Amino acid sequence: MIPFTRPSIGEAEIEAVTEVLRSGWITTGPRVQELEATLADHLGGGVQVRLFNSGTSALEAALLAHEVGPGDEVIVPAMSFVATANVVLRVGARPVFVDVDLVSRNLDAERVAAALTPRTRAVIPVHFAGRPVEMDPIYRLGRERNLLILEDAAQAIGSRQGGRPVGASGNPVCFSFHPNKNITTVEGGALACADPHVVKRVERIRFHGIERDAEGLITVPEWGGKMNLPDVGAALGLVQLTRLEDFNERRRELAQRYLQRLPDHPALLLPEEAEGHSWHMFCVCLDAGALGMERPQVIDWFRRREIGLGVHYPAMHLFPLYRRFGYGEGDFPNAERIGRQTLTLPLFPALTDAEHQQVCDAFHELLENGA
Ligand SMILES: Cc1ncc(COP(=O)(O)O)c(C=O)c1O
Repeated sequence: MIPFTRPSIGEAEIEAVTEVLRSGWITTGPRVQELEATLADHLGGGVQVRLFNSGTSALEAALLAHEVGPGDEVIVPAMSFVATANVVLRVGARPVFVDVDLVSRNLDAERVAAALTPRTRAVIPVHFAGRPVEMDPIYRLGRERNLLILEDAAQAIGSRQGGRPVGASGNPVCFSFHPNKNITTVEGGALACADPHVVKRVERIRFHGIERDAEGLITVPEWGGKMNLPDVGAALGLVQLTRLEDFNERRRELAQRYLQRLPDHPALLLPEEAEGHSWHMFCVCLDAGALGMERPQVIDWFRRREIGLGVHYPAMHLFPLYRRFGYGEGDFPNAERIGRQTLTLPLFPALTDAEHQQVCDAFHELLENGA
């Protein structure tokens, strides 16, 4: 079976993790500090990085550190992994959805501007599948309206924009290192940011609100959770980071080949190449109805050919949790069409040329001959 994704874990990763397990110190410690410093270097050196036990925790801590809370509205894309909206609810604020572009699946400054109200405090653009959002116009809007712009780069480690890595801007940017991501710490995430005040606050928020004085005595000036990454995960991440460029080069090569080799068919809407794209996922829209099928049948048809397809993601505003805010069908046509039609094709560094061709051939068979 060809899965839609699979982490690339080699002997070096296994050795690094084993070394930590044998060291006598397995939770947050020297490996976390080392990965924070190495990631900051990787991002160009102008930011500080703090690691978390998930991308979700990093987003939540960033919102709390900026005091986003009850009474605030936060603009999020209507189509993303649900964590992007859930963290807003978690801090007591209200997510306000905006539609995404059908092809890039990203939000843009015009759509954000149209959703602003006097209560808008923040915007969380998502670099979907590693395709960088056009950030300049959104940052301009943020400056004009005094908004926090918090980039959800959970899917975009190694993506670049304007010649710099995503995460290098100095504004708060969150990454995820979940096993599906382009590099992994098993579970894990990070916040990159240049503001020392924010860095200090997220350090407290990620660990019980604790601050230490020069003698090592603790005090607790504010609430904090339990969001720290263990050294075991950081040791894995340190090795993975050395392989990120190679991983992403292979991802780009495979994505290019999909763009060249998948059938040109009216029922199939492909993503497009973009500068700085790290191709975390290759997501298409397939109009299964035009083939006389429904999406579960399509997924099953591929499964019988030993090909696993993913679904990323349903439109968030149609989940029961968010319908409670008055959202419903027809609010965001692009997000809803993506939600109905999206399929994620196998794309990961260890995918072989032959496996890749098998996926392309299966799409030709389905679209040219029918099920
Ligand atoms: C866009 C987006 N935001 C946030 C997250 C949350 O990251 P994590 O799973 O590390 O908590 C994910 C993870 O899939 C994601 O894809």
